[in-house]
Amino acid sequence: MDTITLTKPDDWHLHVRDGAALAQVVPFTARQFRRAIIMPNLNPPVATTEQALAYRQRIIDAVPIGAEFEPLMTLYLTDNTPPEEITRAQDSGQIFGVKLYPAGATTNSQSGVTDLDKCTQTLAAMERVGLPLLVHGEVTHAHIDIFDREAVFIDEVLTPLLARFPALRVVFEHITTAEAAAFVTAAPANVGATITAHHLLLNRNDMLVGGVRPHNYCLPVLKRERHRQALVDAATSGNPKFFLGTDSAPHSRSTKEHACGCAGVFSAPTAMELYAEAFDAAGRLEALEGFASNHGPDFYGLPRNQQSIRLERREWQVPADYPYLGETIVPFMAGQTLTWMVHG
Ligand code: NCD
Ligand code: ZN
Repeated sequence: MDTITLTKPDDWHLHVRDGAALAQVVPFTARQFRRAIIMPNLNPPVATTEQALAYRQRIIDAVPIGAEFEPLMTLYLTDNTPPEEITRAQDSGQIFGVKLYPAGATTNSQSGVTDLDKCTQTLAAMERVGLPLLVHGEVTHAHIDIFDREAVFIDEVLTPLLARFPALRVVFEHITTAEAAAFVTAAPANVGATITAHHLLLNRNDMLVGGVRPHNYCLPVLKRERHRQALVDAATSGNPKFFLGTDSAPHSRSTKEHACGCAGVFSAPTAMELYAEAFDAAGRLEALEGFASNHGPDFYGLPRNQQSIRLERREWQVPADYPYLGETIVPFMAGQTLTWMVHG
């Protein structure tokens, strides 16, 4: 197979930031994807329907003329999100999920949830109307090792949550461990998961051997090789619970190459090429369309896209950087050779 044509894919987990950054990052996603679930971790967070609708318009204003791209908005869950906000979100027709950031887990999570018990009525409302909870699945306790935080989250938070709200639709975002892949596989059909391209392609050696590689640092952090292999198995299995979410998370070069560097991999410019690379390496290119184009809309209850996208087997080099906020941003695998290229 030297050319593959797929139903146009969607990105079910994406950060595009705000202000001047939008015009610099939205075009990359709009070129490859028809829709994307937009993460609400701005500062201040996108916590109300009104804020989400205003943010949606700013994103639409950044879509290049001629591109067909639709942002699917989310709300940022806080300790104080009232159940009425869920009704407003659902009635708007533009909000497709509510994001749970455990307070302190990642970039701009300081307004996140400190105790899920504070959200009982709001979660009940979500379960009732069918609005999915999108979960950053890591505990934040200082005594839990960073490599164990996802597995502990499953036992301490996710399992009890689903016991209390068995019909709640949950997307376990950017899973990184064999434990998470097994949990989602065994869960009922209202539980799905997104998987990033970088967690399919790299393990933690790629971040730490031969010098620290800040551009491979993200949260949840890369794990050991056996976890990467479990993620590849899950993504390429054809199981409809697993779907594409890049977690492309732009940070400028100076904030990544820093004594306390930001977490986030900027993969939007080469997203589909990276997934093609990972599926090809597993000998499972035929499973790419389900993962990238079908399972996500099916889970969210949205129509599959009508358009298509073509990938060609052709070597090319990822640019060293792109302009960003008056300086530069370094894309994932900068300067390296990829063997797939999105056509057009
Ligand atoms: C994300 C960001 O920068 O907004 N960073 C990351 O490493 N993935 C936040 C997140 O999704 O955890
Ligand atoms: Zn993210």
